[in-house]
Formats: sequence, C-alpha cells, structure tokens
Amino acid sequence: MGQRVLVFGADSMVGSHFVATAPDDWEINTAGRRDPRTLGLKVASFEPLDLSDRAAVSSSLDRSSAELWINFAGRTDVDGCEAERRPAGTSPAALDVSGSAWNVNALFPGWAAARAASSGRFLLHISTDYVFDGTRGPYAEQDQPSGLTPLVSWYGYTKGVGETDAVGYGSKVAVIRIAHPYRSVFPTKVDFARSILQKYAADALPAFYADQTITPTWIPDVTETIQAVLRHNRSGVFHVASPEPTTPYGFAKEIVAAAGLDATRVKPGAFDDGAKVPNRAPRPHWGGLEVSEVDRLHVHPLSFRDGIRTLAEELARGTGAALPRG
Ligand SMILES: NC(=O)c1ccc[n+]([C@@H]2O[C@H](COP(=O)([O-])OP(=O)(O)OC[C@H]3O[C@@H](n4cnc5c(N)ncnc54)[C@H](OP(=O)(O)O)[C@@H]3O)[C@@H](O)[C@H]2O)c1
Repeated sequence: MGQRVLVFGADSMVGSHFVATAPDDWEINTAGRRDPRTLGLKVASFEPLDLSDRAAVSSSLDRSSAELWINFAGRTDVDGCEAERRPAGTSPAALDVSGSAWNVNALFPGWAAARAASSGRFLLHISTDYVFDGTRGPYAEQDQPSGLTPLVSWYGYTKGVGETDAVGYGSKVAVIRIAHPYRSVFPTKVDFARSILQKYAADALPAFYADQTITPTWIPDVTETIQAVLRHNRSGVFHVASPEPTTPYGFAKEIVAAAGLDATRVKPGAFDDGAKVPNRAPRPHWGGLEVSEVDRLHVHPLSFRDGIRTLAEELARGTGAALPRG
C-alpha cells in the first residue's frame, strides 16, 4: 500500500486538488468541518474536527495512524480575519489572542508540528506570500515573515506565526508558500483567475492594479511539489509560484485574451486606491514569491502565462485539472 495520510482542509480549493489526484493506493483520511465526500472526493474516512479546539485536535492527532499529515486548512478570508486584528508591537504571548484566524492559522500548525516531531510523523503545511510586508518582493524561501506591521494583514501575520512555529520543529516539517492560487475548476470557491472571467461576463470588471507585483500559483503545481517533497524526503520552506512576476492588470489582460475575449476592456488601476476601500486588509504591494528550492526537486512551476493557457484550454474542453478521485 502507498502512504497513509491525514489531510486537514481536504475540501479546500488547494487541498481538494491534491486529494483528487492522489495515487489510488494512498489511504486518504480527512478531518475538518466539511466532509470532502460532499464535493465528490473519494476518501477513506472523515472526522468532524474544529481545528481551533486544542483538546479535540490533540485527541484526533493521538488517534491518527497516518505517517503523514498535510494541512491545507486555514482561515483564508483576508478581510474577515482583519476584524480579529490585535495591536502591533505586543508579543502574541502577552495578548489575549482569540479568534479563529489566530487559532487556525497561528496555533494549529505548531500544535500539529510538535505532535509530528514527537511521534515520528511528517507534517506538510501550506502558507502564503501574505506573511511578507510587500516592500521588496518577490521574496525568497529564506526570507522570514515580516511580523505585524501596518503593511501586514492579520491573516498574513497569523499565517507567519503558524509557519515559523511549524518550521521550528525541524526535519519533520515542510512548509510550502503559495501566492494567488488558481485552477480551472472548483465549484465552491472562485479564485482570482476565474473571478476575472466572471466579472467580465457580468460586465463588472474593476480596474486592476498595474503597479503591484504578484506571482500567481497554478494549483496543480502545488500538488506536484507536495509529491516531490515527499519523494525526496525534504524539509524546510518551498515556494510554488509563477517564476515570472506580473501585476493584477497584466494577469487580467492575459486571461481575458486567452479566453478569446476583448482584452481592451481590462483597465489599469493604482494599488494605493485599494487602501481607500473601507475595512479592507492590507495586501503586499511588491509581493510574490521567488522560486528556487523546487528546482532541486525537478519541479518547474508554470509561469502565469502558461498557467493561464492551460486553464483556458481546460475551460474550453470542459474538463477540470482534477476529477474526483477513484
Ligand atoms: N486562497 C488564497 O488566495 C491563498 C493564497 C496563499 C495561500 N493560501 C493558503 O493555502 C491554503 C489553502 O487555501 P484555500 O484557498 O484552498 O482554502 P479554502 O478553500 O478557503 O479552504 C480553507 C479550509 O480550511 C478549513 N477551516 C477553516 N477553519 C477551520 C476550522 N476552525 N476547523 C476546521 N477546518 C477549518 C475550511 O473548512 P470549511 O470548509 O468548513 O470552511 C476549509 O477546508 C491555506 O493554508 C491558505 O492560507 C491561500
């Protein structure tokens, strides 16, 4: 038999691709709030689990017989997380930090990594370029999260605390940072790429920032990287993103054109206009990820142009990047 795995966030946009394409002889067990079988995914088991409940998490990890734990779960609603923000400049230990973003993004990865290290399991955890303040991106694998500053969202800060804590457990942990993930099919959440096509169809295209650096991640590349990290038995931090940076404006023009639509309808906007939107969390201005570590694993993430071309082909064929497993 192949690997026995416990997956958190199997129903997520990124995690569901991994689950859908896992080798047939892998035993995929899952835990979380929504049964991934409701998405048509075939898994060996599902256990209801709130990842912010430390006692329930401990008991679930104790019972797990999987040799590999993969965490795709996170509180990913960036603006929603911002409502839980605590003041900068105070150490988390000194704060009465509660809230789901803190528990799921900052604490759970450390709980899982500690348990993985003490029980001989391997933990693979997904993080984000939003851990960086966006003053000098794209960022390298070796760059450390920026901490909490006015330029970093509460989402990004909590993810940074979580990945730093997890990586601190050493050789039994790998963290994969991704940025603006997109795929051709995922019914329950619309990503950055497909939202552009939806807004085009609704004649509701906003202006897209022409002065922001982004490096969007083709989601199948995340799955490929996870498999390569496991095959090569590697730990540490890996980036999976377009090796060629772009801007939201550049990406939007490219995807509209690739879909055979009128790219002249895509208009440029200015990043600073985003800061004027009420209750909007900060985003990295000069953000994105440099990709170098995965080269050694012989993984070559698609440039945003190739990702868009593949997405457009899949949409035209009516096939997804991942069909339900089984
Ligand atoms: N989307 C992005 O733009 C982006 C960018 C960079 C990195 N990432 C990272 O990539 C990973 C996957 O992102 P995604 O967009 O694929 O995620 P997603 O589709 O938003 O799904 C998030 C998952 O986390 C689960 N979750 C949240 N709170 C939970 C809790 N208290 N207990 C149990 N499960 C909980 C959700 O369960 P429910 O279904 O019950 O809500 C869902 O399975 C995350 O670590 C995210 O931070 C995402």
